Amino acid sequence: MPSKVKTVWYCTSCGNETSKWMGRCPACGEWNTMKEGLSREKSASSRDKSLVNVSEPVPLSLKEISVTEDSRISVGSPEVERILGGGIVPGSMILLGGEPGIGKSTLALQIPLRCKTLRTLYVSGEESPKQIKLRAMRLLRQEDGEMEDNCTVLGETMVDNIIRHARELSPDLMVVDSIQTIYSDNIESAASSVTQIRECAAALLRFAKESNIPVILIGHITKDGSIAGPKVLEHIVDVVLQFEGDTRHSHRILRSIKNRFGSTDEIAIFEMTGSGLREVENPSEILTPLHGESLSGVAVGSMVDGSRPFLIEIQALVSTAAYGVPQRSATGYDSRRLNMLLAVLEKRAGFKLSAKDVFLNVAGGMRVSDTACDLAVVVAVLSSNFDLPVSPGICFAAEVGLSGEIRPVGRIEARISEAARLGYRQIYISSYNLSDDMRRSTARAGISIVEVADIAALCRRLFKADND
Ligand code: TYD
Ligand code: MG
Repeated sequence: MPSKVKTVWYCTSCGNETSKWMGRCPACGEWNTMKEGLSREKSASSRDKSLVNVSEPVPLSLKEISVTEDSRISVGSPEVERILGGGIVPGSMILLGGEPGIGKSTLALQIPLRCKTLRTLYVSGEESPKQIKLRAMRLLRQEDGEMEDNCTVLGETMVDNIIRHARELSPDLMVVDSIQTIYSDNIESAASSVTQIRECAAALLRFAKESNIPVILIGHITKDGSIAGPKVLEHIVDVVLQFEGDTRHSHRILRSIKNRFGSTDEIAIFEMTGSGLREVENPSEILTPLHGESLSGVAVGSMVDGSRPFLIEIQALVSTAAYGVPQRSATGYDSRRLNMLLAVLEKRAGFKLSAKDVFLNVAGGMRVSDTACDLAVVVAVLSSNFDLPVSPGICFAAEVGLSGEIRPVGRIEARISEAARLGYRQIYISSYNLSDDMRRSTARAGISIVEVADIAALCRRLFKADND
């Protein structure tokens, strides 16, 4: 009996399905996200077939359920392995998302190039095998094209053909670049529609689970993450890795958003170089000032992203407003938070900033959302305002409250150790952050801790000045 095709409406934001069009998705509440798609009802015979291969329930305590951890597949990059929780789990499906041009294909191709023994099937619907070869030669800095890897390239976009080839080759790993370019001819809607993406991903997931071959699925996400596709897949895949960063800068952050086999608290930083992505094991070194002499308007803050603390340079420029309304602009920092900190400086500490333009920039194209950087932002603004530099050996880790008080932040010990490791002489923190035990233990770390309670105390200590 042929299967029946019926029209349904999908939400491009959350993937919710309804039988009629609606202006607002009842599941996620987004407006104007419902798109038409086709769904094929399963015929009675295929429903019966699905009952043939049923699995039996087993007790959790059963010894036969294998839990061997050592079977994880190595990917040749310690940072990527750390993010994955120790390598790729066989039979798992990993979604690698990010904006176009961020480096997803490069990261995926570096896996077989680094692990020469890993038999990889690289399926590309975006680039031809020739383009992939050229990229691989660039990554290996090779001119002659002689390579000793175990990578097979397939330029194919139909999901059934991809799975057929994968069954024949039975590789150790399959990469599909990208989910938006592949389609299934069981469905009438166009490639990259939500229906196609869901159907193809579901077919690949079934393949991964049956064959125990892990699949890395690449998916494009636009800046606001709104474009349908990868977002609707997040709940079916095992691991979601997201590549972030400004494509104009060379630094990229790989973040795990979901991981069924590890922590989601990890990030890895990469640098895009002329020969591919380089792992940055020590992010603080590239994000903090390289210049020896001190400049005004620069302060180093401590930020925690994932589970790692690192130090980041914050730059501010305060100048007299050229036109009536002063400008406030922030790059890599929340501009509302900047306005709040400026208001605190104005109201609680009496600095006249309301007639000044304030520009703030976070070095290295990074985005800061950790409130522990508040103090560094305040210091950068004040330093530029007074035109007095902060000594390069000083860094800051505290939140600034609405009444101008300097508040404690989490993971203070890790932040202090990171600053000490990088050779900072002094770290400014809140007076309420350390217990007596901690004071004694951190005194040994070779860094002196300056505790400040409010902005006035900070200024006296740092700039030896009272208010303007
Ligand atoms: P790519 O992996 O194609 O991005 P995606 O698959 O996410 O769309 O990488 C695109 C950018 O990376 C491209 O603009 C050029 C740059 N790049 C380098 O700078 N060095 C390199 O060695 C490679 C391969 C790419
Ligand atoms: Mg690509």
